[in-house]
Amino acid sequence: MTQGRTAPTPATAAASLPPRASAVPDAAVSLRAASVRLGGRWIWERADLTVEPGEFLVVLGPNGAGKTTLLRVLLGLVPLASGSASVFGADPRHARPVVGYVPQRRTFDRDLFVRARDLVALGVDGTRWGVSLSGRERRMRQALVEEALEAVGAVDFANRPVGHLSGGEQQRLLLAQALVTRPRLLLLDEPLASLDLGAQAQASALVSSVARARGITVILVAHDVNPLVSVLDRVAYVARGRITAGPPDEVITSQRLSELYDHQVEVLRDRFGRIVVVGLEDVDSHHF
Ligand SMILES: Nc1ncnc2c1ncn2[C@@H]1O[C@H](COP(=O)(O)OP(=O)(O)OP(=O)(O)O)[C@@H](O)[C@H]1O
Ligand SMILES: [Mg+2]
Repeated sequence: MTQGRTAPTPATAAASLPPRASAVPDAAVSLRAASVRLGGRWIWERADLTVEPGEFLVVLGPNGAGKTTLLRVLLGLVPLASGSASVFGADPRHARPVVGYVPQRRTFDRDLFVRARDLVALGVDGTRWGVSLSGRERRMRQALVEEALEAVGAVDFANRPVGHLSGGEQQRLLLAQALVTRPRLLLLDEPLASLDLGAQAQASALVSSVARARGITVILVAHDVNPLVSVLDRVAYVARGRITAGPPDEVITSQRLSELYDHQVEVLRDRFGRIVVVGLEDVDSHHF
């Protein structure tokens, strides 16, 4: 569970990156002494984090701790106040073509009549939607869309209006939209939110199997680690201005979480391996 995966096959990478020196040249993601300041206050400071290619990292932490901010730094949307960040050895702004992103809390209006497959196609090049494409470009786009729809098992509902689909089906489409450019890194912000327990297990298994098959590195933000325990390699906690990463058996312990939250908590594991943290209710709305 805590072991890294095989390196990605170069053939799956759609785009190459400009060469640039990095502190950890082989890392998918590297933060070195990275600090973020927003609205006049420090969100997190002096964070060090390395994510290996093919690794599945789950990011946990209370509301407002800076989990989404971490993803936005890796997308090159939030500048660091100090320190450095790189994605596959490049400046995050230059790495965008190899990053797939599913933002937090995206739901669709019941009345949205855009077809599911057209939503996925927007992921290919949203900015050119409506602009006339050449025949070759259109065929290439269709092939990428079919590939992504198949990867997430969405072919059966690909022609239905997005607004008529269930929450779980919509999540599959958002994943397909993020996969359509054949990314090397997937950043998923609470993709399991609002899914029932069965759908959460299905969605995490789906992300894991697609990522393994393609050697994609995954950074997934969640509030409940349990549906992800069997697929993740490491967890990262964003709490009280710090980022702490490691294997779950080392990080999700009574002692480490009590230190991280500066509050006495107790970690319990039941006979199915499920994790319950007792005592966190007092400090935030974070739950397991
Ligand atoms: N552009 C901004 N300007 C000022 N403050 C911001 C900005 N963006 C985010 N923040 C603040 O930074 C903190 C971290 O926000 P972030 O969205 O990263 O938290 P989060 O860990 O993802 O929380 P949640 O679990 O609720 O999604 C919050 O207090 C938020 O209000
Ligand atoms: Mg968030």
